[in-house]
Amino acid sequence: MMNLRVLNLLSVTCTIIISISVLAASNVSPPARQYLFDFTKTDDVDNWQEQSDTVRSVGMSKAVLVIHRNAEFRRAIFFALLNPQPNGAGFAGIRALGSYNLTGHTKLQILCRGQGQHNGFKVVLRHKGLNDEPNYSFEQYFQAPKDDFAIRELPFSEFKAYYRGKRVVNNETLDLSQVSSIGFQMYGGVYQPIKQKGPATLEIDWIRAE
Ligand SMILES: *[C@@H]1O[C@H](CO)[C@@H](O)[C@H](O)[C@H]1NC(C)=O
Ligand SMILES: *[C@@H]1O[C@H](CO)[C@@H](O)[C@H](O)[C@H]1NC(C)=O
Ligand SMILES: *[C@@H]1O[C@H](CO)[C@@H](O)[C@H](O)[C@H]1NC(C)=O
Repeated sequence: MMNLRVLNLLSVTCTIIISISVLAASNVSPPARQYLFDFTKTDDVDNWQEQSDTVRSVGMSKAVLVIHRNAEFRRAIFFALLNPQPNGAGFAGIRALGSYNLTGHTKLQILCRGQGQHNGFKVVLRHKGLNDEPNYSFEQYFQAPKDDFAIRELPFSEFKAYYRGKRVVNNETLDLSQVSSIGFQMYGGVYQPIKQKGPATLEIDWIRAE
């Protein structure tokens, strides 16, 4: 006959095991890392379109995304030539339209390196298919690493609403479940303390959501 002590011990052990499994089940696990673009594995940059200041009559800048590969590596290069207006207005960019559900992810990560006259870039997101003006874009500035490739992290909570490069103070936030455009821009900095112009490159291995 099993003695009382052993029974007690068994029941305590069972309670602990049940509690742990209940905890584990109720703890919603974060979504798996999602590669949005892995240029180390694809030659396809066809869905990246230029989106530069030449959409306006005064615009003079140019941008393109191309694949750069040899026997050892493959990645994409964003080439930008920024010819801004005297006040700094101007941008050179590229973007990929699509439908990206990033629900539950907390940040964008980009393995990249910047070379050229300036290293200030921004990521431009749009949502709900509202991919053109007058709808807002959701933007975040970053400095590309200069010498060695490194991961730049952009928290989704830090993407703020902008209209033509100017911060819009409103209550609209990026809908992560319906991101419909992902882009990179080199900016003139019309509303920024630092003005940029001239040629710049951003070499990109991959872009992923963590
Ligand atoms: C986005 O993904 C989440 C989590 O997987 C899901 O619950 C939601 O229905 C999806 N939304 C859309 C618009 O697909
Ligand atoms: C942009 O937003 C306006 C309303 O502000 C809407 O009528 C228009 O269809 C939208 N267009 C695109 C393509 O984003
Ligand atoms: C945002 O503001 C507008 C008008 O100011 C209001 O109608 C709308 O309900 C607000 N939306 C949210 C999500 O707070």
